[in-house]
Amino acid sequence: MDLADKISSRQANVSVIGLGYVGLPLAVLFAEAGFEVTGIDLDRARVGSINAGESYIQDVPQRQLARAIAGDGPGRLVATTDYEALREADAVVICVHTPLSKTKDPDVSYILSAVHEIAKRITPGMLIVLESTTYPGTTLELVLPPLERAREQSLVVGKDFFLAFSPERIDPGQSDWTLFNTPKVIGGVTPECTEVARTLYECVVDQVVPVSSPMVAEMVKLLENTFRATNIALVNEVAIMCDRLGINVWEVIDAAKTKPFGFMPFYPGPGLGGHCIPVDPQYLAWKLKTLNYNARFIQLAEEINLAMPEFWVAKTQDALNDAGKAVKGSNILVLGVAYKRDVPDTRESPALDIIEHLRGKGASVTYFDPHVPEVVTETFRLTSIDRPQLGRGLVESDCVVIVTDHTDFDWAEVRRSAGIIVDTRNALGANRGVPSAAAVVAAGANG
Ligand SMILES: NC(=O)c1ccc[n+]([C@@H]2O[C@H](COP(=O)([O-])OP(=O)(O)OC[C@H]3O[C@@H](n4cnc5c(N)ncnc54)[C@H](O)[C@@H]3O)[C@@H](O)[C@H]2O)c1
Repeated sequence: MDLADKISSRQANVSVIGLGYVGLPLAVLFAEAGFEVTGIDLDRARVGSINAGESYIQDVPQRQLARAIAGDGPGRLVATTDYEALREADAVVICVHTPLSKTKDPDVSYILSAVHEIAKRITPGMLIVLESTTYPGTTLELVLPPLERAREQSLVVGKDFFLAFSPERIDPGQSDWTLFNTPKVIGGVTPECTEVARTLYECVVDQVVPVSSPMVAEMVKLLENTFRATNIALVNEVAIMCDRLGINVWEVIDAAKTKPFGFMPFYPGPGLGGHCIPVDPQYLAWKLKTLNYNARFIQLAEEINLAMPEFWVAKTQDALNDAGKAVKGSNILVLGVAYKRDVPDTRESPALDIIEHLRGKGASVTYFDPHVPEVVTETFRLTSIDRPQLGRGLVESDCVVIVTDHTDFDWAEVRRSAGIIVDTRNALGANRGVPSAAAVVAAGANG
């Protein structure tokens, strides 16, 4: 039986390498579609949690994971740290992380390590799909060669094994667009590779979008996230311009978005965060640098987005100053430290920079975030104040800085209880229609 038939009849074993935000939901989805799924992760704690049916990813509900682990659904999921499990695999999906190194170069070591382990155990007819976000050329330049040379013989791609790149497009915390209903782009090394990968993904997603090569598929993902990073930078700069002009940026955007065509609203904020938007464009810029091309939009967008925490710290300083206070010695309460609404993720969160700058200026900083009990960085460790302490915190702080607009925050209480409020997200919406330089700073009832 060839792989396509094995997939269609659900007799194919699927392995997912890397069980984080991307890999775990995908592994569960394959199990729900009727496959025997093995999840491989080097993190023992994660593997232990999965096998105990305990989800650590918000988008994978406990019940759904427990069902997949118990095999109560159409398929079953088992997690392991042992790569030997790959010997049983017919299809392998790589979902390891792709961070930046300290010098902001791509760190593809996790991909290389996974590929090395696959190459040791590749079996005839195997499908390998890379889902980790990476620079254009990775699949052909880094993943393909070790697989072709595997087993001390030359394996022919498209015949002896199949290789494709398929970008992951999930948006953590988003419930309207899921893995199932978000179209899946696939670029195989050969047309046969694309076809086999398409057969697999059509079992779990509504629509597959084949493209002509892995490089095109890699570039699709980077275009999408560079588009977001540069547009966010643009609107952040517009916010700075509006502040100088003494007008309210949110009023401007609200009116501009009434244009039914040719305008798409983006909103200013404290800066960029998460594992994708701040990181992915750097992968593209790095690749272009090797081709003697300077990705100017990416560079400028990064510069503007990275400067936003300092912009908001300056606003905090101004707001305290207007009240005759200094940052030094002030008690500042930060609301929300996750990088975006309703997620527990603080990777690259601008809140961490804002806290760092405020502490550097001598403020005493506390925070409240029901999604993030603790934050640990190289320079500080803080735990969230409890919800019962929040009321007092709001009243007693010299300034409240809203960084993340979680939906379960009680904004009416914040407005009622806090003194000086710096609202980086317009969460209070208090300034709508107020054409003044105070657009970014609201004074609460207590102020
Ligand atoms: N998080 C997102 O929202 C998102 C969205 C789209 C794309 N992506 C991309 O997907 C990829 C994965 O991101 P993530 O957020 O799921 O990362 P993550 O850090 O949540 O998970 C990665 C997992 O891989 C494991 N791992 C690392 N090296 C391994 C190895 N050699 N063998 C086995 N396991 C290994 C880690 O222990 C970890 O559990 C990245 O390239 C990211 O850019 C992420």
